[in-house]
Amino acid sequence: LSTTEVDISPIAVGQIVTVQWRGKPIFISHRTPAEIKSAQDVPLSELKDPQPDQDRVKAGKDQWLVVIGICTHLGCVPLGHQGQYNGWFCPCHGSVYDTSGRIRQGPAPLNLALPPYTFTTDTKIVIG
Ligand code: FES
Repeated sequence: LSTTEVDISPIAVGQIVTVQWRGKPIFISHRTPAEIKSAQDVPLSELKDPQPDQDRVKAGKDQWLVVIGICTHLGCVPLGHQGQYNGWFCPCHGSVYDTSGRIRQGPAPLNLALPPYTFTTDTKIVIG
């Protein structure tokens, strides 16, 4: 299947769920208000791969972050709600991502990539 439909209604605030799309893990994070705020408040000058949080989510859907769950260093799968920024931590060589999936520390060069996806309803996304 080239697309994956996901019912996001069971994903609680503060929960991260992993689904598969084209054989890749996709992290769907239902972010808390604090997680959204910490992602939005970071000055771009502090980022290795500068990208505003609002460019990483859909307009009006700040609470949903959808990223490809593959470390941009050498391809391990990072662990959610870990690391200094409470985003993701890659156990292979210690890359740390924030609640926007942006690289903050460690050897990874880039933010977690964004898959193509659309909201088909308020509670459904189609990835791909
Ligand atoms: Fe993630 Fe190296 S593969 S830090």
